[in-house]
Amino acid sequence: MSNNKPMIIAHRGAKGMAPENTLGAFQLGLDQGCEGIELDIHLTADGEIVVCHDLTLDRTTNGKGRIVEKKLSEIKTLDAGSWFGDEYKGETIPTLNEVMDLVPDWIMINVEIKYAYEGQIEHKLLDLLKQRSRLNNVVISSFDHKCVRRIKLLEPEAKIGLLYQSNLLDPTAYARSFDVDVYSLHPYYQLLDAEDVQKATESGLYVYPYTANAESDLLRLTQIGVSGIITDYPGRLGALYQGR
Ligand code: G3P
Ligand code: CA
Repeated sequence: MSNNKPMIIAHRGAKGMAPENTLGAFQLGLDQGCEGIELDIHLTADGEIVVCHDLTLDRTTNGKGRIVEKKLSEIKTLDAGSWFGDEYKGETIPTLNEVMDLVPDWIMINVEIKYAYEGQIEHKLLDLLKQRSRLNNVVISSFDHKCVRRIKLLEPEAKIGLLYQSNLLDPTAYARSFDVDVYSLHPYYQLLDAEDVQKATESGLYVYPYTANAESDLLRLTQIGVSGIITDYPGRLGALYQGR
């Protein structure tokens, strides 16, 4: 194994061992030594930012329907933990504000914008991050590259990341073609090679592939020099670094 120790980033919290995107999953990630937390956000009907992967409540709660059609008070009555296991009964969908109460500010938070809600989420997110003095250690990523570009234009201090699943010919050239500064690349881990990583890091871009869980993949990504690894099993990655 190389001496590189990529940042351990807990995907939706320690998603492999706790109900994703809940405070319990984030706490478990912290307990397992993660240095970063990845999470997904949506807007409620009353304009609150909540942490959930899907547009709808159906898969991860005992509720139904679109998040954007529900008020926060209604969402807060739902159980977001029981589907994973009885020990997590009573977990709720957290607001991003609640996550920031839990997660110390030296832990990087990677906020993924799943949907821009006609640009509303960008303003709400920036207001919240400024109010909480978190701009410095939050990376805002999205598959919607126009959205993260708008974020950077609105707030030059914001750190933006490009998520992508295709095998881009030259991801660094693509990121550098933006008229704003891009902070990081977030490629699908299976399509990432050493040349892409070298070019990106030499250009000053951080590289955070998602979502690698098998030991062989964690080792390969470490060897090719990525900056961090988004994983459902932060403890597994930490164990690989033990004794090095
Ligand atoms: O941010 C990396 C990764 O979380 C993107 O995919 O579907 O898990 O949100 P998904
Ligand atoms: Ca995500």
